[in-house]
Amino acid sequence: MIKIKENNKNVYEFNLLYDSVGWGAYKNEVTKKALDNTFYSISVYNDDEIIGYGRIIGDTICFLYIQDIMVKPEYQGNKIGTLIMNKLLEKIDKIKEENPYLRVYLGASKNREKFYEKFGFIKRIDADLGYGMILKRLEVH
Ligand SMILES: CC(C)(COP(=O)(O)OP(=O)(O)OC[C@H]1O[C@@H](n2cnc3c(N)ncnc32)[C@H](O)[C@@H]1OP(=O)(O)O)[C@@H](O)C(=O)NCCC(=O)NCCS
Repeated sequence: MIKIKENNKNVYEFNLLYDSVGWGAYKNEVTKKALDNTFYSISVYNDDEIIGYGRIIGDTICFLYIQDIMVKPEYQGNKIGTLIMNKLLEKIDKIKEENPYLRVYLGASKNREKFYEKFGFIKRIDADLGYGMILKRLEVH
C-alpha cells in the first residue's frame, strides 16, 4: 500500500534513495544537517519501504527551491514522482496565499526538463530571464 509521510528526517532512508538514483549518498552528518534545515518534505512508501522523496528548501516565504525529487529506479514510471510534485505544490500554493510574490525555483538535471514542465515549470530563458547559474568550483566529483 502506498503511504505518504511529511517531514521525514530519516538519514538512512534519504541516503538509500540518493544512492539508488546514482547520486552517491552524503556522509550521514551532512544529510542530517540538510534534513534538519529542510522546510518541508514528502516521503513515499510502499508499505514500509521508502520508494520516493522530494523536499522544499528556502526562506519559507519569498524564495523556495524544489530539491531532490527521487524515485527508486524499480518504481519509476508509476506516477510516484508526480505524486511527490503535486504534494509539494499543494504546500507551495498555501504559502502563496501568504505571499503572492513567492518565487519557486528548481534546477532540473539534464534531460529531466520535460518531467518538470508537466507541473508548470518553464526554462528561465523562456520567461525572458537570464540563465540560472551554479558556482563551478564547488562542484566536487
Ligand atoms: C525524474 C523522476 C523523479 C520521475 O519520477 P517518476 O515517478 O518516474 O515519474 P512519473 O511516473 O510521475 O512521470 C510523470 C511524467 O513525467 C515523464 N517523465 C518521467 N521521467 C522523465 C524524464 N526523465 N524525462 C522526461 N520525462 C519524464 C513521464 O513520462 C510522465 O509523463 P506522462 O504524464 O505524459 O505519462 C524519477 O525518474 C527519478 O527519480 N529519476 C532519478 C532522479 C532524478 O533524475 N530526479 C530529478 C532530478 S532534477
